[in-house]
Amino acid sequence: MKGVVLAGGTGSRLFPLTKITNKHLLPIYDKPMIYYPIRTLVDAGIRDILIVTGGRNAGDFLRLLANGKEFGLTHLDFTYQEGEGGIADALGLAEHFADGSKLCVILGDNLIEGSIREAADEFRRQERGAKILLKQVSDAERFGVAEIQDGRIVTIEEKPLRPKSNYAVTGIYMYDETVFDKIRTLVPSRRGELEITDVNNAYIREGAMTFHHLEGWWTDAGTFDSLLRASNLVAQSVRGAVEEPAALQASK
Ligand code: G1P
Repeated sequence: MKGVVLAGGTGSRLFPLTKITNKHLLPIYDKPMIYYPIRTLVDAGIRDILIVTGGRNAGDFLRLLANGKEFGLTHLDFTYQEGEGGIADALGLAEHFADGSKLCVILGDNLIEGSIREAADEFRRQERGAKILLKQVSDAERFGVAEIQDGRIVTIEEKPLRPKSNYAVTGIYMYDETVFDKIRTLVPSRRGELEITDVNNAYIREGAMTFHHLEGWWTDAGTFDSLLRASNLVAQSVRGAVEEPAALQASK
């Protein structure tokens, strides 16, 4: 399975922080935001990774990441999204890179505490279709929300005013090669974008969508509050990892 990090967009919800740089280059605690989704893919055993970016700062990604040596990679792919077509439009640019392989797609502003290894291994064994990762949240109206009946997702609503559940669809998606045919059938939503939720609903209609519950914390980082939350969560994890062994030693 290959990996795709979607890191385009104008980051308008973070203006003026994003006036002179791309959202995914902003700091989250001690690293640029995009380091975290790349690490998530690498930790799931994915070594072929495409970065989709855009805007005026695309060259900065190449300078920052080079060939991915910091992640133990020998090579990274890059492509450029023109305009503001949305997540599914950005993913459409990965068709040549995918070359018939399954894909694990992650939004460049999604950070997790744990690992997606188990879900990725399940999807490697899944014959066809798609898999998404869900997380229970208290502010579901900010996200795509999955309605689940009898252990199956029956539909996903994008940012519903009255969510039918508290299961947010995280920005981590796994697809077979039919994703590109599905993207070609999409029409822009009210916000003028090709929506990833429409892609997911196409898989649900085919009966080809599975899901996995993500363990540990999950956050996006596309608003002032979630950007701060992401930094605090990472800082707590890093400090926890450093301080815990010392605390354990002291208690001996
Ligand atoms: C996007 C998706 C949404 C998903 C979210 C996860 O929303 O459209 O379904 O729940 O990412 O971060 P955006 O934040 O791009 O509006």
